[in-house]
Amino acid sequence: TVAKSGSVCWEAPSNIALVKYWGKKENQIPANPSVSFTLKNCKTTTTLNYVKVSEENQISEEIEFDVIFEGVKKESFKPKIAAFFKRILPYCAYLKQFKFEVVSENSFPHSSGIASSASGMSALALCVMSLEKELFPEVTEDYFYKKASFLARLGSGSACRSVKGDLVVWGAHKEIPFSSDEYGIEYPFKIADVFKDFQDTILLVDKGKKKVSSTVGHNLMHGHPFAEARFNQAHDHLSALIPVFEQGDLGQFIKIVEREALTLHGMMMSSDPYFLLMKPNTLAIINKIWEKREESKIPVCFTLDAGANVHMLYPSKNKEEILEFVKNELVVYCENGHYICDEIGQGSKKL
Ligand code: PMV
Repeated sequence: TVAKSGSVCWEAPSNIALVKYWGKKENQIPANPSVSFTLKNCKTTTTLNYVKVSEENQISEEIEFDVIFEGVKKESFKPKIAAFFKRILPYCAYLKQFKFEVVSENSFPHSSGIASSASGMSALALCVMSLEKELFPEVTEDYFYKKASFLARLGSGSACRSVKGDLVVWGAHKEIPFSSDEYGIEYPFKIADVFKDFQDTILLVDKGKKKVSSTVGHNLMHGHPFAEARFNQAHDHLSALIPVFEQGDLGQFIKIVEREALTLHGMMMSSDPYFLLMKPNTLAIINKIWEKREESKIPVCFTLDAGANVHMLYPSKNKEEILEFVKNELVVYCENGHYICDEIGQGSKKL
């Protein structure tokens, strides 16, 4: 079978880390293992249109492509995608025979401060694998998803956790069989029902582009005085989460997840040069969440990624009361009153 021209389309979600990936080695190998909830509503849909331009494998070293984002041709997105194609080329030599058009859109507003690199790179990696499958029909399902996650990782580390599953582990961990630094795997042990429809309300504190990219942030972990202790802590937190996921122990869950979020920002605040991504409203929301938890006993907690926005996590049975709390007490801290209601999702989907 020779695909001359055609089109493949995938939808891939964003994810929110519970144990954070912060710091990497060569080739997007993480310095520590991480685990994330896959989201459902925040996602990217990508169509990869391809035309075969050569029979040989060696037409050019660079892949030719156009990018159309939300209906508009985007030159500014090209360098990131060009870098992605270049990185995956050693594993996907067949790409050189084709010319591409990458047509992409996000379900969430572009300038929401929500990183689209996880969902975007994951959707694109899955499209590449669908082309590979057309060229090599013997590709098995297991190989397909592993390699999709592997390729997504080369685009953006955390993207490898947006390929398959609701709770995803990336990075080798001694207690998690088949965990790998190369790709994400579905969390292999029991998960209590309470987590299966966990809610994530994302409070958009700052919708601007972040001042320090995650690439710069990861690099500042090289030579960071607390790096080794932090990497060990991530291993310990992941170990501690195994019984928490199994038993649905929300008290312990909250302690680990919030500590991870604050440690991530603590690493940023203590690097050289140091930087600060939280805003006054980030702290105001965190304090409100703590007050709410104290007085209502609802097991609601927060996490953060590399920015000022707050992800508020809680069980679905508390949804009504928490959304009232958002409307009455938290929207004032959100830029233009904006927030996004999301929850745990199941991973990518071929369209
Ligand atoms: O995938 P990157 O390189 O953008 O790094 C993401 C890092 C965090 O979002 C802060 C943590 C994580 O594990 O997702």
